Amino acid sequence: MSTDTWYRHDMKTVRDIMITCIGLNFGPNPEEKLEEIRDSRYKHGLKIAKRLKIDDNDVVADIGSGCGFVTRAACERAKEVHCIDISQEFLDFTKVELQDFENTRFHKIDYASFPDIADGTIDKVFSTAVFIHFYYYDFIYNLIEVNRILKTGGIFYTEIVDSDVLKLDSMRAIKTHVGSYKHNRGKARLIQPFSLTALKNLSAQLGFKLIESTQSADVAEVTLKKVADAQIPEWLEPHVNA
Ligand SMILES: C[S@@+](CC[C@H](N)C(=O)[O-])C[C@H]1O[C@@H](n2cnc3c(N)ncnc32)[C@H](O)[C@@H]1O
Repeated sequence: MSTDTWYRHDMKTVRDIMITCIGLNFGPNPEEKLEEIRDSRYKHGLKIAKRLKIDDNDVVADIGSGCGFVTRAACERAKEVHCIDISQEFLDFTKVELQDFENTRFHKIDYASFPDIADGTIDKVFSTAVFIHFYYYDFIYNLIEVNRILKTGGIFYTEIVDSDVLKLDSMRAIKTHVGSYKHNRGKARLIQPFSLTALKNLSAQLGFKLIESTQSADVAEVTLKKVADAQIPEWLEPHVNA
């Protein structure tokens, strides 16, 4: 898709969306770098598609599909792709971005609940640049829901900023976030480190086995396999279904 198509949207909204999606990693005016950003995120999608061996037998879900740049690689390969997002604005953009793919569905969700997706119907789920913002509680609710929609043996890929390896004198991913935290606390959506050890521990209690983790600087890319239905403790059931 050409950049012109993007510009048919309100420019201000494009800027807001790009900044929300990619921050200032591509400079102060990311709306002027759409092709570069699209290409960079698409290449990330290609790596994930390769890692998860996505093929035309697979029904795939992308949690927090954002602009659909990463999702595109799955759309090119999978039988069906479900874009899931809490933001109608992002979904509207993604519908345009991925309009050429008839195998792609869009789901506006509230929070950690994918009611349009039936139990055990998805082969592969991935989520990029989303769980890096999540707290422990978000992991609980999202892992339960990912477990519900996955087939047994299905896989889930996500990324965390791994607090197990963070070093104050060399951190990359959260340096600016730590810097602005004091001034923005409670107001800004910041990157939130999560420990790989904690993820392994929590996911094992919710029916997953960690099958691969690769570390690149502060970021851990993690692949979990669903080995059983999540056993949800009684005290948590009312909250899960609320
Ligand atoms: C930083 S963007 C990442 C977009 C895309 N995955 C990528 O890697 O380029 C985060 C996206 O996740 C969505 N999001 C945030 N919290 C979410 C949640 N709890 N469940 C689903 N989507 C969420 C946002 O609306 C946004 O589209």
